[in-house]
Amino acid sequence: MNPSAQPQTWSQRFETALHPAIAQFNASISFDIELIEYDITGSQAHAKMLAHTNIISSEEGEALVSGLEQIRQDYRKGLFKPGIDAEDVHFAVEHRLTELIGDTGKKLHTARSRNDQVGTDTRLYLRDQINQIRSQLRAFQTVLLTLAEQHVETLIPGYTHLQRAQPLSLAHHLLAYVEMTQRDWERLGDVYRRVDISPLGSGALAGTTFPIDRHYAADLLGFSQVYANSLDGVSDRDFAIEFVAAASLILVHLSRLSEEVILWASEEFRFVTLKDSCATGSSIMPQKKNPDVPELVRGKAGRVFGHLQALLVLMKGLPLAYNKDLQEDKEALFDSVKTVRACLEAMTILMQEGLEFRTDRLNQAVTEDFSNATDVADYLAAKGVPFREAYNMVGKVVKTSLVSGKLLKDLTLEEWQAIHPAFEPDIYEAIAPRQVVAARNSYGGTGFAQVQQALSAAKERLSQVN
Ligand code: ARG
Repeated sequence: MNPSAQPQTWSQRFETALHPAIAQFNASISFDIELIEYDITGSQAHAKMLAHTNIISSEEGEALVSGLEQIRQDYRKGLFKPGIDAEDVHFAVEHRLTELIGDTGKKLHTARSRNDQVGTDTRLYLRDQINQIRSQLRAFQTVLLTLAEQHVETLIPGYTHLQRAQPLSLAHHLLAYVEMTQRDWERLGDVYRRVDISPLGSGALAGTTFPIDRHYAADLLGFSQVYANSLDGVSDRDFAIEFVAAASLILVHLSRLSEEVILWASEEFRFVTLKDSCATGSSIMPQKKNPDVPELVRGKAGRVFGHLQALLVLMKGLPLAYNKDLQEDKEALFDSVKTVRACLEAMTILMQEGLEFRTDRLNQAVTEDFSNATDVADYLAAKGVPFREAYNMVGKVVKTSLVSGKLLKDLTLEEWQAIHPAFEPDIYEAIAPRQVVAARNSYGGTGFAQVQQALSAAKERLSQVN
């Protein structure tokens, strides 16, 4: 439809229609159509509340509710496709309702404003999305846990500064991501509590002259609270910012794992093999197998961080209460939701079936370096040599071994005893990679016994619901 032919939306104070380009500029229907089902649900609750408080008759209330339901069904069947002339999803639904049920439809907006309406819709949408994302986090954790269970005994070099530091159980490494995503899961539960507050009935900004029952409508929509201040109710977007901040942290975690997978799949590391189902080829180099999935996740993280910044800047200068700037919150929020969901799905598939750990290569890798040097120092310290002295002595041993091309395991007992008489034949066992890992049995450490306990604790948490 030609935008200049838009129906008269606002009062008769206006004599001419909007300039077509301005109508286009002003419209949000192209993206807030995402909210349509929430808008219908919110309006149904509002209509029921109007009837409940006798602001409209119960027949009128029923007509509104069933007309709105008709719109929902028509939309699902593709029979209702609002265009640009509708300006936004709220007007689209309201106009359609009047087309369907006649003048009663015009009563829907009694004691309500689009300002409290859009806030309600957005919260209903986000509550649903948070629940879905939390389930996705659980699915991701389940895949990591299953992998971890298979790799308690697989060793992997541990790094600091991306330099070989101390060997680890691969399960311990994977469980670190289970911990991060556990915080994500908890954080979203906390954000949910502040999304779960109803602004409906705040009116345009000041409340309403009608004897509405805000708690009644909020109960129908399953909100656990209502906003206590109408100005705050229509202009608060903290909940959206908090959500995008939580989504950003999820992406920080997924992006860190992505970076590791990319490194691990490289010829330099050779810790994992990417399966064909999750890798892509090059258009020119026939030998290539590229880690596109983790690279895209790493790249998409930046998009969501950008949305967080955009929302913070959007809000910082806004005087109370509603300002049209707030229409700009939608695309940032929707894209954050879609991005975090797509990344979680892709990473879950990648970890579940897209890569294989090269266990031989991993177990071999930890025997090729000096990552057992701390254990030599610990060995001496346990025999009473002050740790700093032991540390310096071992540093010297590493230096001479590097020159002679030997590893610590290759030193003879005489060589060890020349360094310090406290060395005994059990030094070889003490510095074997498996023992080095097993011995780090402090709480939260990589020792196999600790890892087994961490696995059970993590599994237990998966059944937690709130
Ligand atoms: N489309 C608008 C938004 O997303 C709805 C609220 C409009 N309110 C108003 N006073 N113009 O924010």
